[in-house]
Amino acid sequence: MIKIENLHKFYGMGGSRTEVLKGISLDITDGDFLVLLGASGSGKSTLLNVISGLEPADEGSVLYDGTDINGQTDAEVTLFRKETIGYVFQQYFLLPNLNVDKNVKMGADLANNKEYRKMIEAVGLSEKMKKYPHELSGGEQQRVSIARALAKKPKVLFLDEPTGALDEATGRMVLDLICKLQKEMGFTMIMVTHNQNIAEMANTVITMNSGRIVEKYQNDSPKSAYEIVW
Ligand SMILES: Nc1ncnc2c1ncn2[C@@H]1O[C@H](COP(=O)(O)OP(=O)(O)O)[C@@H](O)[C@H]1O
Ligand SMILES: [Mg+2]
Repeated sequence: MIKIENLHKFYGMGGSRTEVLKGISLDITDGDFLVLLGASGSGKSTLLNVISGLEPADEGSVLYDGTDINGQTDAEVTLFRKETIGYVFQQYFLLPNLNVDKNVKMGADLANNKEYRKMIEAVGLSEKMKKYPHELSGGEQQRVSIARALAKKPKVLFLDEPTGALDEATGRMVLDLICKLQKEMGFTMIMVTHNQNIAEMANTVITMNSGRIVEKYQNDSPKSAYEIVW
């Protein structure tokens, strides 16, 4: 269970100091698929970064099973992230000079997972293990980044616009894959998107507007990636 209490986050100094998170509170249950919607600049990525320990908040707490990671030392947060968090970004961020196998192994090594090739198989890239990122399509690169994130067996997977750089057919395929893997592995999933339709796939939907949560609801019957309008 992740319990977020009264988060405030500021950027800048003096006259240009702006409040980007304006008192965010939220409970996320284990195994949930939460989608975070909101216009560009509303604070979605900042909130994701704070919940995952990538950046500290200026005020408030981020409790994982009762332990507040906001205010922990860098070493503590680094260990927490290593053991608990997986991250997938719109732009993949694969290492260009490592092949598929080595990119995924990098994630796996963090958790000492010797069976990481199962993750490469799970994303359907066993045939392309020796390829380098520039030799892959966008969808394939995103599948590598998903395998890398999951190879460390995270408890919580964060995805920031994971289909933002993909065409519709590829986007659906990647979302379908992510959902299947979540059902098999049982991790909690928190996904930022500005595609309202993707929200129909989630259990919980949150909408942000200029640093605040303005709406939260549950979906009783989430749709599959192939049932939503794109
Ligand atoms: N590192 C930063 N320094 C200063 N301002 C930032 C920084 N990161 C984000 N911001 C500002 O914070 C606001 C929210 O940004 P962000 O969380 O990226 O929004 P979203 O992901 O919803 O588009 C924006 O106004 C953005 O310009
Ligand atoms: Mg963003």
